[in-house]
Amino acid sequence: MCALYGIQSLPRLVLVSFLVSLAACSSAASHPAESHSTLPAYRNASLCVDERVDDLLSRMTLEEKAGQMFHTQIFTGPNGTFDPGDPSQNRASTIDRVTTKFMTHFNVAFSTASTKDTAEFVNRLQRLALGTRLGIPITLSTDPRHAFHDNVAAGFSAGDFSQWPENIGLAAIRDAKLVRKFGEIAREEYTAIGIRVSLHPQVDLTTEPRWARTNHGFGEDAQLTATLLDAYVRGFQGDTFGAHSVSTVTKHFPGGGPAANGEDSHFEYGQNSSYPGNNFEYHLIPFKAAIAAGTRQMMPYYSRPQGTQFDAVGWAFNKQIITQLLREELGFDGIVVTDWSIITGSGAGGEWVPARAWGVQELSESERALLVLNAGCDQFGGEERPDLIVDLVHRGLVSEERIDQSVRRLLREKFLLGLFENPFVDVQAAQQIIGNAYFRKLGDQAQRRAYTLLTNNNSILPLNHNTNTKFYIEGFNKTYMENRNLTLVDTPAQADYALLRLNAPYEPRNNTLIETFFHAGSLEYPEAEKQRQAGIYAAVPTIVDILLDRPAVVPEVAGSAAALLGSYGSSADAFLDVVFGVAKPEGKLPFDLPRSMQAVEDNMEDVPFDTRDPVFRFGFGLAYPDSCAGASGGACFS
Ligand SMILES: *[C@@H]1O[C@H](CO)[C@@H](O)[C@H](O)[C@H]1NC(C)=O
Ligand SMILES: *[C@@H]1O[C@H](CO)[C@@H](O)[C@H](O)[C@H]1NC(C)=O
Ligand SMILES: *[C@@H]1O[C@H](CO)[C@@H](O)[C@H](O)[C@H]1NC(C)=O
Ligand SMILES: *[C@@H]1O[C@H](CO)[C@@H](O)[C@H](O)[C@H]1NC(C)=O
Ligand SMILES: *[C@@H]1O[C@H](CO)[C@@H](O)[C@H](O)[C@H]1NC(C)=O
Ligand SMILES: *[C@@H]1O[C@H](CO)[C@@H](O)[C@H](O)[C@H]1NC(C)=O
Ligand SMILES: *[C@@H]1O[C@H](CO)[C@@H](O)[C@H](O)[C@H]1NC(C)=O
Repeated sequence: MCALYGIQSLPRLVLVSFLVSLAACSSAASHPAESHSTLPAYRNASLCVDERVDDLLSRMTLEEKAGQMFHTQIFTGPNGTFDPGDPSQNRASTIDRVTTKFMTHFNVAFSTASTKDTAEFVNRLQRLALGTRLGIPITLSTDPRHAFHDNVAAGFSAGDFSQWPENIGLAAIRDAKLVRKFGEIAREEYTAIGIRVSLHPQVDLTTEPRWARTNHGFGEDAQLTATLLDAYVRGFQGDTFGAHSVSTVTKHFPGGGPAANGEDSHFEYGQNSSYPGNNFEYHLIPFKAAIAAGTRQMMPYYSRPQGTQFDAVGWAFNKQIITQLLREELGFDGIVVTDWSIITGSGAGGEWVPARAWGVQELSESERALLVLNAGCDQFGGEERPDLIVDLVHRGLVSEERIDQSVRRLLREKFLLGLFENPFVDVQAAQQIIGNAYFRKLGDQAQRRAYTLLTNNNSILPLNHNTNTKFYIEGFNKTYMENRNLTLVDTPAQADYALLRLNAPYEPRNNTLIETFFHAGSLEYPEAEKQRQAGIYAAVPTIVDILLDRPAVVPEVAGSAAALLGSYGSSADAFLDVVFGVAKPEGKLPFDLPRSMQAVEDNMEDVPFDTRDPVFRFGFGLAYPDSCAGASGGACFS
């Protein structure tokens, strides 16, 4: 059970440093009685968790408690050293954060592409934490890391991990058993590298088709989302929560989907949530399911509600939402961690982003922090300002008892995760576990299964071809075709078939770096792009693959391409396997594909399935014939 780092090894390690410091005392011959001190109760794994928490809490200064309440991004310095920090971004060095701010919660904000380097870094970081007065281990978290999309503010492409479609692709497959399996695999990969908290699942219902975060959710249907998220939470946490678990943070309470005009609340212009359909309750369905499944943590979103009974301030500042609704009505007793940077602003990626303190911008940092505490949150995401909390207590505005309430929850989680017994990872084992052939195979299969066949005129797919067939391609490179001995030509006119891999339409925005990662705005291709594509469709039968990170408004593609596939994060090889019938598309749309932007603009942000006359409905997806006859490129799997 504890093969490599026996339960005994950590206490011994800690005991050594303990004895070293006592030895220093003894040499002054002032405290001889302490030289045979026993293990502090919080380090004694035979004691029950509550006893250990109480013991540790009783030893902590207010500053050490306040440090637990902050959870922010961690970077590596050059060659895996500790980040020296950046005063211009208000970012302290890693060493200062751990040793003088007493912070012990960080989200991994760098690529884990080299498992070995990352695992070594994690161990170095844990050793730094063990050297502090109380030796409280670090808890590491991450945004999603198992798919394709890269967004410093919301997720990373897979790197060394097995690579799966985005969660919206798991929703297209609609197989709860597969979602559970995915969760178990992600758990093994995360824990192998010391990541113990997932800043996901995202279960916001994407009832506004333009919202830029559709890819990380399970679509606009509450029941499908609730079913899959149940499997997801159980996969990540396991049947019992403990030393092999990843603690899930279900987000973003009470639902980020009703984004006014489809704009995201990372940005000031997207701060409003809108409920014209009076459909607030619908968005709670997945959160109720998450609580029933035992999710350990919850994250409220940045948005502030308009036109509801609730105060028009960001959800984390809102006592009606966090204390009355989430804790009292829904009975959630886990950790509530705010979304990143709602108090002080942040300097991600080298640019300063003001605090996302929607509805409370006029308040001071201290007043905002007080509101968050009074609302009932436990931890501040994307912040490193324990001094704000210490000051609030010193000024008598917050009781130490209130601080203890949150810190107790946070410490309890560390004990349950077994971090006090073993915070380290096995560098060799990590390299064997992460991205192993079996995990990769399942991820690769899921990429293929998620493919959703929307049109297939004259059953052109799976595509019949031979070595003389000429292909025109866009959106992936010739290497993939050459590997299959396929013949490429330079123009559609010379080709027998065109194969296009396209992004769903969006309006590139770049006022800030973070904005460039969010696909927002119109769901239609610009006129010039429509005409360019029309030229290809007119010249040659064309197979189109659109990456549906959001619903697309593409009636013209459905009407003119020979076949249209939707995908949700897939490799070029997955696409080609589906085209040639080596694999079958099994996906069913996890949302409607609207008819026009007018229909999108007329939809009510909080209501699902309400755009007029959609081109394709939720649940639509054609299949290949069972036999897959005629697929000379390969045989369909059954
Ligand atoms: C741990 O606690 C158990 C139960 O109280 C006790 O018997 C044991 O001596 C303790 N171990 C240490 C090393 O203090
Ligand atoms: C990183 O390591 C390389 C190779 O050992 C070395 O050449 C380089 O100077 C190091 N960079 C820093 C900033 O330490
Ligand atoms: C948010 O809604 C309020 C109330 O309707 C409105 O005054 C404000 O302009 C909206 N803000 C944005 C950024 O849309
Ligand atoms: C094609 O793309 C793959 C994957 O990104 C890359 O490894 C390969 O070098 C590329 N080939 C060419 C000819 O650009
Ligand atoms: C491609 O052609 C080469 C040489 O004829 C052959 O060895 C190889 O197996 C072929 N690959 C495929 C995928 O058909
Ligand atoms: C945004 O893109 C436009 C067009 O490419 C460019 O002119 C502008 O400088 C960019 N702005 C920023 C902030 O990068
Ligand atoms: C393909 O079939 C669809 C649905 O029957 C039709 O609307 C479309 O025009 C056809 N496309 C082509 C290129 O024939």
